[in-house]
Amino acid sequence: MADLSSFFAPHSVAVIGASRTPGKIGYAIVDNIIKSGFAGTIVPINPREQEILGHRCYSRITEAPGPIDMAVISVPAAKAVDAVEDCARAGVKNLVIITAGFKEVGKEGLALEKQIVAICRENNITMLGPNCVGMMDTHTPLNASFAVNFPRRGDIAFISQSGAMLVAILDWSQYTGLGFSKVISLGNKAYLTESHFIDAVAADPNTRVVLCYIEDVTDGKHFLEVARRASRKKPVIILKSGTSQAGAQAASSHTGALAGSDLAYDTAFRQTGIIRAGTMAELFDLAIAFSKQPVPRGKRVAVVTNAGGPGIVTTDRIENQGLEMARFAKETVDFLRQNLPAESNIYNPVDVLGDANVDRYQIALQKTLTDPHVDSAVVLVCPTAVTDASSIARVIIDEHRKVPEKPVFAAYMGGESLAAGAKKLNDAGIPCYTFPETAIDAIKGMSHYRQILQRPASAGEPRPDNLYPDTVKQIFQKARQDNRVVLLGSEAVQVMQAYGIPCAPTELATTSDHAVELAEKMGYPLVMKIASPKILHKTDVGGVKIGLRDAVEVKKAFAEIMENVTRLLPNTEIYGIEIQKMMPRGTEIIIGMIKDVQFGPLIACGLGGIYVNLLKDVSFRLADGLTRAEIEEMLSETKAYTLLRGYRGEKPADIKTIVDMIARTACLVSDFGEISEIDINPVFAYPTGARALDVKITIA
Ligand code: COA
Repeated sequence: MADLSSFFAPHSVAVIGASRTPGKIGYAIVDNIIKSGFAGTIVPINPREQEILGHRCYSRITEAPGPIDMAVISVPAAKAVDAVEDCARAGVKNLVIITAGFKEVGKEGLALEKQIVAICRENNITMLGPNCVGMMDTHTPLNASFAVNFPRRGDIAFISQSGAMLVAILDWSQYTGLGFSKVISLGNKAYLTESHFIDAVAADPNTRVVLCYIEDVTDGKHFLEVARRASRKKPVIILKSGTSQAGAQAASSHTGALAGSDLAYDTAFRQTGIIRAGTMAELFDLAIAFSKQPVPRGKRVAVVTNAGGPGIVTTDRIENQGLEMARFAKETVDFLRQNLPAESNIYNPVDVLGDANVDRYQIALQKTLTDPHVDSAVVLVCPTAVTDASSIARVIIDEHRKVPEKPVFAAYMGGESLAAGAKKLNDAGIPCYTFPETAIDAIKGMSHYRQILQRPASAGEPRPDNLYPDTVKQIFQKARQDNRVVLLGSEAVQVMQAYGIPCAPTELATTSDHAVELAEKMGYPLVMKIASPKILHKTDVGGVKIGLRDAVEVKKAFAEIMENVTRLLPNTEIYGIEIQKMMPRGTEIIIGMIKDVQFGPLIACGLGGIYVNLLKDVSFRLADGLTRAEIEEMLSETKAYTLLRGYRGEKPADIKTIVDMIARTACLVSDFGEISEIDINPVFAYPTGARALDVKITIA
């Protein structure tokens, strides 16, 4: 983990390219540092000036008295490499490079950027950017950026790959009063990436919620490691735009065709406990919720409303989001019956009626919030002639204070007449939205985070036993010698067996007599298939025979297959004919693997057979660190799982064996980076045991 303590809290900051001219970036940066209240030394660097904004100016950083902990660089790109070299000479340990004109403009820019990174690495300098707005820490305090606003001090860390997005959000936050701990504009991420910052802010005592806007992840492996660790410490909410290449890259396999374009990111986020926001609004609604309210202990929501319709809308949303309408204790219901008008609904949602005064809200909220069957509450207020929105806000604030461990949200559904009350709530830390759905979505995000915290840690699960990587190595070597990237079926089966994955017995026969010899050993009935790396659709060229019952049939089939194939594809290289034991039918499953450029192998499982692409009943997980609990969860997301558990009186299949097969496949692909795709389809699952029938392995 990079130590970023002196990056966030330097004692001295130099600005290379500082300017006396208002309106220039070099001016704005010095001005921002001063205005943020930075208590350390400010050192402007400009060869033409003696003094800038009251601070002594030096012509080069090497001439300034040290030590200087951070340098912000805002000279044009052509001068940036020299400036960085100067910083290295001056012993500066942290750089923020604002300058644009690097990787983002093409080859020449990329070359400059590489030079800068090399200097940083050689001299152990951390570097943010280039091509960024800068960084802020409201607790240091320090605003080393050229943004127009320095946000209120708070507990949200915001890391953004888009500078424009960042400045817009900071401007917006001035209205909402949202407080930030640290704000980082990532720029080109040439050295420090989102992962370094997520790691740092997860360990930061001033940060409660981590927000990110990213367009891509720079180093998938580093990200997975950091995300797993960080999400257990605090909520990490990411808005990710753009799509990944996973689906497009691997479309030659069934598994590849089943993977959507954004699948790898979605899977990586889910598996590492990242909360993914779908929109900018959701990103910040969740930030507000996590920043201001505790995480609910469970899914049971109480609703108090002065209007029936919005109560129903809220109930619908609660159910659609997988939350639960709380079922009140008898004591609560009795109390509400005694204390509310006879027309009120005393069950959830509690309807205090359109003419409700403050007292009715108080009675309903106080009793429901203390009910042991309630984990969170939402208060809805619609404006009527008798609604006193400000006093209701006071009641909500007071009642929440008495039960601070349960989150409370409000929806003030109206405009001007409710604005003062809504402001009162927001100022007191009760998120108040215009519509109830936003409140419910926030509760959903928070209760999802509760589940993330409750997941068992993935580290430390033992590797399955009886894995023989040396055997696999030899098989791959042989294929490479023959210039093959797709293994023969019999080789793929050997690879599976070397990793303890049960397969239908499969052997390669080179002659007719050999076929009979193997068949007699294996026992009947049998299937025979042409073995040629060039033939993908074996049935189309008459290369498959099934249900063979004795030696005579095997001999005949051998001759016929050879005759068919050589007639249709005279010059095709043939390795022989595969003899496979015909297995009794079982529940058909697919297990597969595709590779993502960022996150590595993704394992798939679901309904197998010939309709896989039609039914698309698969679930994906990253192979890296895949646990048995995750495999079971993955299986349980598919319809295949219903079949495996015994559908319509069928005996349940051996799910334990299927889980073990998936765990072993994950080990295989993690051990052998050269495997680019696997399709095991179908696997026949039986009440006891399971067998892989058709295995396709592609290596790079
Ligand atoms: N050391 C210190 N100061 C130097 C210098 C050096 N080696 N060489 C020049 N300077 C001074 C200049 O004299 C100037 O000061 P002045 O105003 O007193 O004349 C100052 O540094 C800036 O140099 P200048 O040539 O005027 O550049 P600029 O201000 O027009 O542009 C950048 C510099 C960095 C702002 C510009 O190159 C840039 O990259 N802009 C885009 C930034 C951006 O959008 N970032 C990404 C946001 S998402």
